[in-house]
Amino acid sequence: MQIDAFLTPYFPEQENLFKDAIVVMIDVLRASTTITTALFNGAKDVIPSDSLDKAVRIYGNLSREVRFLGGERNGLKPDGFDAGNSPYEYTEQAVKGKNVIISTTNGTRTFIKAKNAKHRIVGAFVNLNAVLDFIFNDIDSTEANYPNTKVCFLCSGTNGRISYEDTLCAGAMINSIYNRYLYKGVQISDSAEVARYLYNFHSTNMKEFLMTREHPKHLQKIGFERDIELCFTFDKYPVVPLICPAR
Ligand code: MLT
Repeated sequence: MQIDAFLTPYFPEQENLFKDAIVVMIDVLRASTTITTALFNGAKDVIPSDSLDKAVRIYGNLSREVRFLGGERNGLKPDGFDAGNSPYEYTEQAVKGKNVIISTTNGTRTFIKAKNAKHRIVGAFVNLNAVLDFIFNDIDSTEANYPNTKVCFLCSGTNGRISYEDTLCAGAMINSIYNRYLYKGVQISDSAEVARYLYNFHSTNMKEFLMTREHPKHLQKIGFERDIELCFTFDKYPVVPLICPAR
């Protein structure tokens, strides 16, 4: 088995890079967490869009009763949208039974990658063990294919640069996968090993440490302190968002 990681979404995506791989896409603050929250609260589906215009167009084609438009630029709700990117806005009352369209600065850019993967999963701390269970079940149920199994982590980062919270979330998942399959042989790329190493280094004071980093500080400054607390909670929502091919 191979484990690989991309710590930002800005890399050349060669045709077969993710073919048949299990790909976990991470934007802890806040797109992955918000999408997971929306699905937990009964959203029918969530459609990620890499541009605001495209999101508005998709929204315009859906019927009024079942549509919900969310997203952010610079962390704030775009004019005319139903919600920003705070998981607290995606309550059961707001999203149950609805098609949620969401466009965020970095996260939704990641979620449209890896189109020929076997599975594209949205991962965060809030659904960490649900995502791992899904991956373990998938690997264990295709045992014969074990040597060809590939699990990749795509982190959203911030504007083309690494973000610590995404790297540590990927590192936590990589660490569990690595330890579980070690005895069967695991090849781990340098970037996946960096994420794993950093996770182990920070695991005893992770939350406190992450609070001192760039994106949490930015969100604190613009009034979303509560969001950070939620986004750094382990296993709050046992759901596994899967990204389906475009309709
Ligand atoms: C993003 O996609 O860049 C983030 O989700 C930004 C945020 O709203 O915190």
